[in-house]
Amino acid sequence: MASESLQGSAIATGERNMSEIGIFFGSTTGNTTDVAELIANELGDKSAEPVDIEKASPEDFDKYSVLILGIPTWNVGQMQDDWDKFLPQLAESNWAGKTVALFGCGDQEGYPDTFGDALYLLWEQIQPLGPRLIGQWPTEGYSFEDSKAVVDGKFIGLMTDAENQEGLTQERVQAWVQELVKSL
Ligand SMILES: Cc1cc2nc3c(=O)[nH]c(=O)nc-3n(C[C@H](O)[C@H](O)[C@H](O)COP(=O)(O)O)c2cc1C
Repeated sequence: MASESLQGSAIATGERNMSEIGIFFGSTTGNTTDVAELIANELGDKSAEPVDIEKASPEDFDKYSVLILGIPTWNVGQMQDDWDKFLPQLAESNWAGKTVALFGCGDQEGYPDTFGDALYLLWEQIQPLGPRLIGQWPTEGYSFEDSKAVVDGKFIGLMTDAENQEGLTQERVQAWVQELVKSL
């Protein structure tokens, strides 16, 4: 009873419990893992520990009403392998009514025509399943030719670049998370 009334008051005051936000990421060389951990640190007890999509199942997504999904672009404009393998299972989760935010790692100098494309390729698969997208991010401060991840003049999620702008990642994460929390 006591815990029920505590939960009740947390909901009434708009506080959010630990399990509301789940962070899932794929990462081949560790850069997206690092960003996932920075995001989790910024969110503190609002989020659970980041989970590698390689080890995740669709039921894991169902635990959260807000999902933060991280994906790097690989093989020139393609999704990271572990996300690619997970795709057939996406529709096994219940996405309707959930809120999704995306983040991506890319290399704007090495791959200027496909910078962060995977972010869009992933969203393209998830969008028809019905969640709301938050966390769009400005393109100012990046230098690239083309990106599928830019929609209506903004990245559809946070873009980071460990190869060329690693020093900016932490401040980008901080600013992004601050905005994200306001949109929840
Ligand atoms: C073979 C190869 C292809 C890549 N293709 C792209 C690309 O098309 N677009 C992009 O933005 N980054 C591309 N990258 C850069 C990676 O996205 C970048 O290194 C990222 O930080 C890797 O993240 P991870 O360490 O989490 O796997 C590529 C890197 C390699 C080695």
